Amino acid sequence: MSFKTIAVIGTGQMGAGIAQACAGVAAHVIAIDPDAAQRERAESGIRKSLAKLAEKGLVTDPQGVLARIKFASHVDDAEPADLVIEAIVEDLAVKRGLWEELDVVCRPETVFATNTSSLSVGAQAEATDRADRFLGLHFFNPVPLMALVEVVSTAEVDPQFVGRATELVRAMGKTPVLAQDTPGFVVNRLLVPYLLDGVRALESGVAGIADIDAGMKLGAGHPMGPLMLLDFVGIDTVVRIAGIFHAEFKDERHRAPDLLTRMVKAGTIGKKSGKGFYDWAGTEPVVRSLK
Ligand code: CAA
Ligand code: NAD
Repeated sequence: MSFKTIAVIGTGQMGAGIAQACAGVAAHVIAIDPDAAQRERAESGIRKSLAKLAEKGLVTDPQGVLARIKFASHVDDAEPADLVIEAIVEDLAVKRGLWEELDVVCRPETVFATNTSSLSVGAQAEATDRADRFLGLHFFNPVPLMALVEVVSTAEVDPQFVGRATELVRAMGKTPVLAQDTPGFVVNRLLVPYLLDGVRALESGVAGIADIDAGMKLGAGHPMGPLMLLDFVGIDTVVRIAGIFHAEFKDERHRAPDLLTRMVKAGTIGKKSGKGFYDWAGTEPVVRSLK
């Protein structure tokens, strides 16, 4: 594997899973988050996930994988990385600020990849002096179970780094899909308007939460309905994606429904906060009353 040391910035829902996937194939992983509680949550989530995968024979050395991940709190700790994968908040200014710092911290040959859901990869690359080594690696939630990674090219990236990133995805046992740097790439361009339509169906009284989700699960063969999937992804993240799409496509279908904006204000942003359309405190999610 050509990337021996990989730094993952952000150890939230995605960063934790990405660090886990990287530790399955790289010699060293540095998982960086300034928030100590997030680092602890990530470590315990990775431990549980590896135990589950080991039980099924899908991981042979869970302790070895965990031991390859070193948790750290500061961007300077990314210095030894051959590849940096960013999974912080979906905000262009914040991501650009991070890349500016990393461009100074890391060696010129280090490759940079963003896990953005909807932002321009090129607009992030412009914050660095290495647009030829900057691409998108878009993982899916939950990373340990999802088989896809979108590998996103810009006009400036050198194809050899797209090739090496694609090799990394294959080494993880996942399937790469090559996409161009357009809002939402393949999956979110198609998925996010559908999720927003699910909320509008609820707002306009088509059916309740459980029935909308059961409808799409049992009637369309989806693994989970749109409202549960919103809880899974994080309603804060989906509202940010909707804002980015709305600004880009100037289409009402991409505007975040009021209900989602209210849920963000209330802090009920889905599974990661314990409450969203469902209450996630128990062993099974339970539909909440949103009145
Ligand atoms: N690591 C390891 N094992 C895990 C796990 C994890 N993180 N999460 C769940 N599992 C295990 C469970 O413990 C369970 O194990 P058992 O078989 O021993 O009981 C098994 O996996 C199956 O899990 P569940 O029974 O909970 O449920 P499931 O069969 O429905 O599978 C799922 C779970 C894979 C998440 C499935 O519901 C699914 O595919 N949902 C849709 C996910 C999706 O669409 N993701 C994309 C979101 S969009 C995105 O990511 C992009 C973006 O930019 C926003
Ligand atoms: P999250 O809220 O679970 O985690 C974000 C983490 O980033 C937090 O732990 C936070 O402490 C950390 N962070 C914030 N600013 C930071 C900084 N400047 N430096 C270091 N760490 C910082 O979010 P998430 O769901 O993991 O999403 C992260 C990124 O991945 C976003 O760009 C999102 O659009 C993208 N993404 C999300 C999903 C999903 O389903 N949630 C799927 C694919 C891609």
